Amino acid sequence: MRVAVVGTGAREHALVWAFSKSHRINGLACFPGNAGIANLADCFDCNLDDIGDLVAKIKAYDPDLVFIGPETPLDQGLADDLRSLGIPTIGPGKDQARLESSKVFGKEFMRDFGIPTARSFHVKTSQELTTALAAFNPPWVLKKSGLAAGKGVLETGDYREALAYGQAVLQNDELVVEEFLRGYEASVFVALDGKNHLVFPPCADHKKAEEGDGGLNTGGMGAICPVPLLRDKEWQEVLDSVVDPVVHGLKSKGLMYQGIIFIGLMITDKGPRVLEFNVRLGDPETQALLPRIRNDFVDLSEAIVTGQLDKVVLDIDPMTAISVVIASEGYPGSYKKNIPVQHLPLNRNGKFVLFHAATRTGDNGQILTTGGRCFSAVGLGETFEDAQRRANRGASEVQFEGAWFRKDIGRRLFNLALQLPV
Ligand code: AMP
Ligand code: GLY
Repeated sequence: MRVAVVGTGAREHALVWAFSKSHRINGLACFPGNAGIANLADCFDCNLDDIGDLVAKIKAYDPDLVFIGPETPLDQGLADDLRSLGIPTIGPGKDQARLESSKVFGKEFMRDFGIPTARSFHVKTSQELTTALAAFNPPWVLKKSGLAAGKGVLETGDYREALAYGQAVLQNDELVVEEFLRGYEASVFVALDGKNHLVFPPCADHKKAEEGDGGLNTGGMGAICPVPLLRDKEWQEVLDSVVDPVVHGLKSKGLMYQGIIFIGLMITDKGPRVLEFNVRLGDPETQALLPRIRNDFVDLSEAIVTGQLDKVVLDIDPMTAISVVIASEGYPGSYKKNIPVQHLPLNRNGKFVLFHAATRTGDNGQILTTGGRCFSAVGLGETFEDAQRRANRGASEVQFEGAWFRKDIGRRLFNLALQLPV
């Protein structure tokens, strides 16, 4: 089987790594990939915003299956174009990708199918903005409707800041203004094959830059899988009150696709509430999730594109996995690129794996950074402490000038879980 992965981050490195372990692979490519992916797959230079160029290059590779990582090419119809060429593809078409690319569309879907979520207003004018802000107590939550690379949501207790942000967004987009929810977050990934669905174990992302969940929002500084606080009872409630109605809604609206739906949740004391949908795997959740999946990844992917997920039984490693993002100095603010990487840790017998995110190989073979979040170090362990020790030790062995990482990924959730009644 010849497989092509589309994307450039640590999520895509984890996908390529998972595919590379299958004995069924006899060709593995990534468009465009990074320095780490290049050790496992043929990498092809391309621009993820140029769909015509991407389609031509992928077609030339002649894959049996394509797995699309990021949202932008999905929103631009890459999966439709590949399928129209007869190439089996994991990822929704442009229409279904609206569940992510329009938060207004996502909220309407939740309302239509009784999916629990925050009360909200769809805001198109300044007048509607002031009405919506008046309807809620602070802090306010304002969401730009369109794709924003994780930067479209403002949570603030400052009315003037909320108003200014809302008015700025309304210049060229619409808004969802919603009730502020308290609780803890979880990311639920569900594979869809067009008819059947398969739920993966839950993960939790850590969005804030600073330890203790303070500081600025980032693209995600690490993840834990499974989520220590989601025990069987809470997980069953997620399956019954969220996953089932989401799948029912997709079927009723003709929105079922072959790919992944990512349900972003806030678990409140009144139960799970959906924050958003994404139509792809998450980053850095994927880096913690995939090392726990023991099924052959080609078999699993093939079941998605042939409508046979009902025949798949997930085989999940009981170990906890923690992914820790190693970032450039200054991130999520401005940072330097092209910093030489001095040292990288080796993968260790199934308990530690390093994924590259933003790297390239320079002319002299030296690995250089190319972005803000540069690597994900993933530790696995029978206990939380073992997983954390392995992840943090590996992360500290990633050495380039200014490299930093959060040492507390999963810690708050783990400590809270210890306080739950037995
Ligand atoms: P979203 O893109 O909708 O997932 O929002 C990005 C982040 O904003 C989430 O991961 C939450 O941390 C936060 N957020 C979104 N909606 C709410 C809400 N209603 N209440 C509190 N925090 C929220
Ligand atoms: N981890 C959140 C995302 O991938 O958008």
